[in-house]
Amino acid sequence: MTTTADTQALLGQLLDPSNRADPYPAYAQIRTRGPLLLPEAHLTVFSSFTECDEVLRHPSSASDRMKSTLAQRAVANGEVERPLGPPGFLFLDPPDHTRLRRLVSKAFVPKVVKALEPDIIAMVDEMLDRVARAGHFDVIADLAHPLPVAVICRLLGVPIEDEPKFSRASALLAQGLDPFITTTGGLPDGFDERMAAAVWLRDYVHGLIDERRIEPREDLISGLIAAEEDGDQLTEDEIVATCNLLLIAGHETTVNLIANAILAMLRHPAQWTALAADPSRVSAVIEETMRYDPPVQLVGRIAGEDMTIGGTAGGERSDRGIVTVAKGDTMMLLLAAAHRDPASADRPDEFDPDRETIRHLGFGKGPHFCLGAPLARLEASVALSAVTARFPKTRLAGEPVYKPNLTLRGMDSLAVDLV
Ligand code: HEM
Repeated sequence: MTTTADTQALLGQLLDPSNRADPYPAYAQIRTRGPLLLPEAHLTVFSSFTECDEVLRHPSSASDRMKSTLAQRAVANGEVERPLGPPGFLFLDPPDHTRLRRLVSKAFVPKVVKALEPDIIAMVDEMLDRVARAGHFDVIADLAHPLPVAVICRLLGVPIEDEPKFSRASALLAQGLDPFITTTGGLPDGFDERMAAAVWLRDYVHGLIDERRIEPREDLISGLIAAEEDGDQLTEDEIVATCNLLLIAGHETTVNLIANAILAMLRHPAQWTALAADPSRVSAVIEETMRYDPPVQLVGRIAGEDMTIGGTAGGERSDRGIVTVAKGDTMMLLLAAAHRDPASADRPDEFDPDRETIRHLGFGKGPHFCLGAPLARLEASVALSAVTARFPKTRLAGEPVYKPNLTLRGMDSLAVDLV
């Protein structure tokens, strides 16, 4: 029987930054134990593919953190809720989620994303020209980080000169997605700094909105101000929350996808050479990276009602038994563990873009499925096919250095030799 102390120790391993370079043995241990229950923390941790898939598709799964028993208790104790206004729609449920997602989706229709392709190609070429001139290459600093930042700035209409400031805020806020309070009951280091970053970003976006109200442009902020459907409009707070969500969601995640794919291929050099010779392999490399080393390692849900998980999911029978989750409990879904579930993939620990079917939940599933997935895939496909074709003999120059983040796990630097 797994005790609370065992469970806490297992989750502690995940939070431990020294496991960031390779969290997969810890995920495997957790997955083997089956769902982990921490009743005092009102938390259940799921780590198999079928369980995560079932929770994501379940009609009683909620995304609004204020519905959790712990948040409700904090409200009852008179603690301030949502001091910075409403959250982005990622953390909302219907009807607000449906309404805001519909308004924003218009900006991500395939035609709009496709129109960005020539710009993305030009940006990547320029970045790789710079690398060729310099003769040294840090994958994060020189390609994986600047590309998504430039694209999301262009899309939203954030002046590129302001990028370093908002990049810093976005990096701090990304750390805030880690489940410290849920698993440890305490605040992580740097909480005040993150709150300050959130306040700065909110004020910064308010400023941009004021400018666009006076002088609209062809960008998403102007689009959100003008967005109207059936007489419905976004409030100023909703526009700010949506811009913040897009800045963060469209940024850290795509950096990690590009860098994780490059690292996986360099550790399997035949994959690098194969992609350099045949750019049509790029989609398989991207999907396998999303499975093997996903940029978003975990997501959370709140049980909107009492729920039972297990039994059948996606037509498959689970042999892990049925788990009851009480209304208001938090469910942590370890997607990175689920992707290496032997029940969902053959040879799950191998990076193999040629596998017959690649199943992953890396962009989520159900009503919150990633709105930016086509954009992320486009950016990654341009970057990965260009970098392999241009530098077919690239080799790793050392071990990557990881950021402390668990949820949006990713590298701080990845030095390579162009040979
Ligand atoms: C490789 C890159 C990306 C990955 C791995 C990723 C992953 C995810 C995941 C897992 C979710 C669902 C979270 C949940 O269910 O709780 C999500 C939602 C979302 N993503 Fe992405 N994302 C990426 C890129 C982007 C980009 C480029 C944008 C936009 C510019 C974006 C915008 C969003 C938005 C707006 C949502 C919320 C959707 C909703 O709640 O309805 N993402 N993403």
